[in-house]
Amino acid sequence: MWKYVAGTIVVGSVTYALIKYFAGGVCHCTTRLDGLVVVITGGNSGIGQALALELAQRDSLNNEFSEIYALVNNAGIFYHPQVLTQDGYEITLQTNYLGHFILTHHLLNLLKKSVHARIINVASEAHRNVNVYDLKAVTKCQSEFRSHFVAYGVSKLALVLFTKELSKKLLNTNVIVNAVNPGNVETNIYRNFPPLSNPWLYAIQWPLRCILIKSPRQGAQTLLHSLLTSNRSTGQYYSDCKLVLPSPIAANDKIAKEYYDLTLEVLAEWFTTESEC
Ligand SMILES: NC(=O)c1ccc[n+]([C@@H]2O[C@H](COP(=O)([O-])OP(=O)(O)OC[C@H]3O[C@@H](n4cnc5c(N)ncnc54)[C@H](OP(=O)(O)O)[C@@H]3O)[C@@H](O)[C@H]2O)c1
Repeated sequence: MWKYVAGTIVVGSVTYALIKYFAGGVCHCTTRLDGLVVVITGGNSGIGQALALELAQRDSLNNEFSEIYALVNNAGIFYHPQVLTQDGYEITLQTNYLGHFILTHHLLNLLKKSVHARIINVASEAHRNVNVYDLKAVTKCQSEFRSHFVAYGVSKLALVLFTKELSKKLLNTNVIVNAVNPGNVETNIYRNFPPLSNPWLYAIQWPLRCILIKSPRQGAQTLLHSLLTSNRSTGQYYSDCKLVLPSPIAANDKIAKEYYDLTLEVLAEWFTTESEC
């Protein structure tokens, strides 16, 4: 009898410790954002929705605004069928990176009006899994990457490189920009990923996922931290509420500048002189 009780306690304690460990960092900032405007792309689901709910508890809502405190480039897709959008770009690259590149530049004037403004680019550890040759796919009309994983990895590497180069361009302004890895989070992003979109396969993995994978609220913690922390370092990569080093490619100044210029060239039709930083 005592053997079973002791066994249950040990298994329970280990499971609890594992759940706590994989839940990742927690944002302890108590800063409120009363009256401040935060723009979140992809705010109707997953991490973006959890972040919006957390922030709503720190704001008395103001619908009329002439400045923006923060822009969170969060919308994203993963393992989407590789097709060209009507604009002529590969869909994962456009959704995760190109769209945010354009949006960010068009909101810069409103961000610069805020006393302290922040841009958060929601990246991923997947940015480490691609090489510089894959990056060339920013060119219009490239319809396919080597794989769905590469398409996603490139889009996230592009975001981290964008973070680095943009932070330099904004160095003498009130706007800081950082990239954030939310960790592995249980959300709709896996809707096209066969091992998780198949109900039977998902059911088999479910017990383990309960331990290893974060909830959307837990996934939002590092975003929340980078939005609220008093640390105003810029061009950095956050994971589990801490600053960490991104991949060597993502940390390369030359690649970051070249890729920024290439993106600007490819998206030239979307910019006027005034909207550029
Ligand atoms: N979940 C993870 O394990 C994980 C890990 C690392 C990084 N991330 C990143 O975290 C971010 C949030 O993802 P999530 O996990 O919260 O997934 P999610 O629940 O699927 O949320 C993604 C959001 O992006 C929106 N979106 C997708 N395509 C869009 C488009 N073309 N235009 C505008 N909005 C679009 C979705 O809107 P609809 O629902 O209307 O399509 C949804 O609101 C993504 O950038 C993702 O890459 C997630």
